[in-house]
Amino acid sequence: SDGLQTDTIGTKIYYFDSIDSTQNFALELSRKPHENGSLVIAERQTQGRGRLDRKWVSPKGGIWLSILLRPNFEPSYTSLFPMLTSLALSVAIQKTLKIKTELKWPNDVTINGDKVAGILIDASIESNKIDYLVIGIGINFKIKPSKITSQIKEGKKYGITTLVKKNQDGNPVKLIQQFLLELEKSYNDIISGSTANIRKEWMKRSSTIGKNVTATTTTGTIKGKAVGIDKTGALLLSSRGKVERVLAGDIAYKR
Ligand code: BTN
Repeated sequence: SDGLQTDTIGTKIYYFDSIDSTQNFALELSRKPHENGSLVIAERQTQGRGRLDRKWVSPKGGIWLSILLRPNFEPSYTSLFPMLTSLALSVAIQKTLKIKTELKWPNDVTINGDKVAGILIDASIESNKIDYLVIGIGINFKIKPSKITSQIKEGKKYGITTLVKKNQDGNPVKLIQQFLLELEKSYNDIISGSTANIRKEWMKRSSTIGKNVTATTTTGTIKGKAVGIDKTGALLLSSRGKVERVLAGDIAYKR
């Protein structure tokens, strides 16, 4: 916990050289009491999981971590977590590495359109109360892109990249510390019910707003122009004079 400035996140840290998935480990932890804010981090994962049941290739050189949270608020705020987490990461990358990134709804962090990090949220909601949230973050910190091409096999619409190129220096520990600090700040905002700032900051960094997109959801596809984000983190698409809410899914930009 060297140099961590957070109060909740990272109060307990589980570190692994190699693990199947930090996400699965954090899900196991959720069965025990007193694990609010616990952080699970690994040098590499052998069974990394991505969104929508995809495989997430996680070799050495990346940052693979999961955080267990037991927040006390309305479950509808859960869908804000991908945004809040990617925003915190984008801010931390800029502050510690001076690299500008864009945010792609709902959860991707990109550099010139190429994905550099992904976020996976597992939530358990019981009788309209959140039991736990596990936030998983995968950052391609310093990895040869050819080693991780399978991360995007199904998302052919964009490429993949790494934050730090070979021959470049960059401190992953500083990035992680700053990220956890930013994450805790917006987490506290959400707990106190102030989501406006998160939405505003997310939209500023977003590559999605203003674009014509195709959204793929569990119920079908919707095409429209991205015009905003609502209070719950849903994407608002203007389509044939109507505004449609997209709660969850994947989007592709039309070129
Ligand atoms: C995505 O599909 O974009 C989300 C990728 C999330 C990967 C991270 S790495 C740490 C945590 N453990 C996992 O198995 N997955 C998440």
